[in-house]
Amino acid sequence: MPSTENPTTLSPDDDEAPSNLIALLGGEPVLQALVERFYDLMELEPDYAALRAAHGALLTQARQKLFWFLSGWMGGPQYYIERFGHPRLRLRHMPFSIGILERDQWLACMDQAMGELQIDATLRARLRESFFQTADWMRNR
Ligand code: HEM
Repeated sequence: MPSTENPTTLSPDDDEAPSNLIALLGGEPVLQALVERFYDLMELEPDYAALRAAHGALLTQARQKLFWFLSGWMGGPQYYIERFGHPRLRLRHMPFSIGILERDQWLACMDQAMGELQIDATLRARLRESFFQTADWMRNR
């Protein structure tokens, strides 16, 4: 059953995977590399300092969970849902202060990671749009 909290049809918070995006991406190893690069950049780049500051001391859990989550959302194994049930991303992000600044840094950080991994331009644009919908909906201040 799709989330009633999110108005978009291609939402990372839906139970239904939109299509087999993970195959288009290049499979689980590419997704793993993307998530690793995303969090590496978050630690390294001064441009993402506010985003980094919204996180705790360690990013280990976040790395693991984002990979699990995105796998299912992209049409691969539902590792996240198997472990934690419905993602309820907006609810789970309530403890963190998320405004326009954090949203935009999240999106820029992910887009940089996709660029560095040379994700196909059409797929990258599609993912960018979907990530925007979710990140924007996650704002809580
Ligand atoms: C918009 C800005 C965002 C901020 C500031 C943010 C911040 C955070 C923080 C601080 C955590 C906790 C990490 C931990 O457990 O150590 C987290 C968890 C998580 N985030 Fe985000 N996030 C954002 C956007 C997103 C987006 C767009 C997605 C998905 C496309 C996402 C997916 C997740 C997932 C799956 C978790 C793990 C949830 C759990 O089970 O606890 N986040 N995020």
